[in-house]
Amino acid sequence: MNGSGEDQAHVRKEPGERMKPHPQSDFAVRARSLSKGYRDGDQLRPVLNDLTFTLQPGEVLALTGPSGSGKSTVLNLLAGTLIADSGDLEIATDAGVIALGRLDERARTRYRRTHVGYVFQFFNLVPTLTVRENVLLPLELNMRPDLTATALERLGALGMQARQDDFPEHLSGGERQRTAIARALAHQPVLVLADEPTGNLDSENAALVAEMLIGHVRAADSALVLATHDERVAERADQILRLGD
Ligand SMILES: Nc1ncnc2c1ncn2[C@@H]1O[C@H](COP(=O)(O)OP(=O)(O)OP(=O)(O)O)[C@@H](O)[C@H]1O
Ligand SMILES: [Mg+2]
Repeated sequence: MNGSGEDQAHVRKEPGERMKPHPQSDFAVRARSLSKGYRDGDQLRPVLNDLTFTLQPGEVLALTGPSGSGKSTVLNLLAGTLIADSGDLEIATDAGVIALGRLDERARTRYRRTHVGYVFQFFNLVPTLTVRENVLLPLELNMRPDLTATALERLGALGMQARQDDFPEHLSGGERQRTAIARALAHQPVLVLADEPTGNLDSENAALVAEMLIGHVRAADSALVLATHDERVAERADQILRLGD
């Protein structure tokens, strides 16, 4: 139930040489004393209690913990689809620091579309669009055709060059998730969120997909928060926050 700074559920590895300061701030993501509960009849059932963490640019945070411990809730708070009951959540962007609690719904939608890339356990590709069209969708939504070539290059680097004109239903699970990753990264978000991105993959594809996500975020100096049940994936993160203890 707790993941605040100093408890044992929060493991932070040595930062090493890789970290660079963000141009606008000294953090990429900062969560302070976040609490969130859900209404259950007359009662408020607490899920997250006083959660505090900071991510530097290029850092990866793994959320672990049993089913129902609040991993997806943390991701939804970071995505701005849920609002915390209390606490602060700040995301550093090129345009300055965004305090999510202060945004209205419209601004949160804009924040999500512009600054967040989301990878889902069940891929969530648009079935009526080809691989290429799925990947370019965020660029259409953000009116960023200038990023097309880079996005398609990344799709190729993810091993999907030859599958660009295929529809999702013809892809394997690993291919779908690689497409979903290319889509999540297309608009160059500062924050990548992934909810059990390897949950539906065999161990070989799981390792590959985790490597691609983590490698990209480190190279791009963005930040990645991923919920995972896979200890091997969690071990690759810079920080592990275990919920539900
Ligand atoms: N919209 C909602 N309304 C009421 N309760 C909710 C809602 N969303 C989540 N919960 C509850 O909050 C708790 C945390 O849910 P959450 O989905 O964040 O867990 P999780 O750690 O992601 O679990 P899993 O590993 O099964 O995906 C659960 O008890 C869940 O039932
Ligand atoms: Mg979940």
